[in-house]
Amino acid sequence: MQVAPSILSADFGHLARDVEAICEGGCDLVHVDVMDGHFVPNLTIGPVVVSAVAKAATKPLDIHLMVENNTFFVDLFAPLKPAFISFHIEEEKHPHRLIQKIRSLGIRPAIVLNPHTPPESIEFLLEDVDMVLLMSVNPGFGGQKFISSVVEKAQRLKSLIEKKNPKCLIEVDGGVSDQNIHLLKEAGVDVVVAGSFVYKHPKGIKTAIDALK
Ligand code: DX5
Ligand code: ZN
Repeated sequence: MQVAPSILSADFGHLARDVEAICEGGCDLVHVDVMDGHFVPNLTIGPVVVSAVAKAATKPLDIHLMVENNTFFVDLFAPLKPAFISFHIEEEKHPHRLIQKIRSLGIRPAIVLNPHTPPESIEFLLEDVDMVLLMSVNPGFGGQKFISSVVEKAQRLKSLIEKKNPKCLIEVDGGVSDQNIHLLKEAGVDVVVAGSFVYKHPKGIKTAIDALK
């Protein structure tokens, strides 16, 4: 299982330290939640802060856009050379065009589905993306309760992916812990995002990452 800790749960007063800690703790990706206060009722960080994150990180960035104007934000973050940029399908009229744009910038495109969005809705985009991110909470905040219907959704997505694009990864984001990780693994999930479980673990960041792996 690949682990992408969400820096939303980091101490923003010591952001570089907390980014270094997850990289040294063995994470695979650094998950960055970008929220615009419109698509979700919360605001987070822009390119100035994310460039400081990129400087501190020794692992690739996984940028999760929770915004209304995806194209504008892709242009804003592309110079930071993240490994992945993911955008919400619920907010995009021309997903195929946006996927091509992200790829043309040398970044791996990914699509995000909110908890209610069926995997079949992106069946004809699967061959064009490198990853699908399934939300297991309502996007906007860390520390929420895991929505367990994501397990069945991951299974359904996995069988579509096997038909359309077996190399496409499945990522799950929200409420992930050592209590539900085995269900996600069995369902075919490749990457988990975890914010509070990693940053607030009583035995520290490395123990938390090891437990998920
Ligand atoms: C929620 C974000 C998540 C969040 C995960 O909108 O996309 O990445 O930070 O945090 P936990 O693991 O605490 O649910
Ligand atoms: Zn996220």
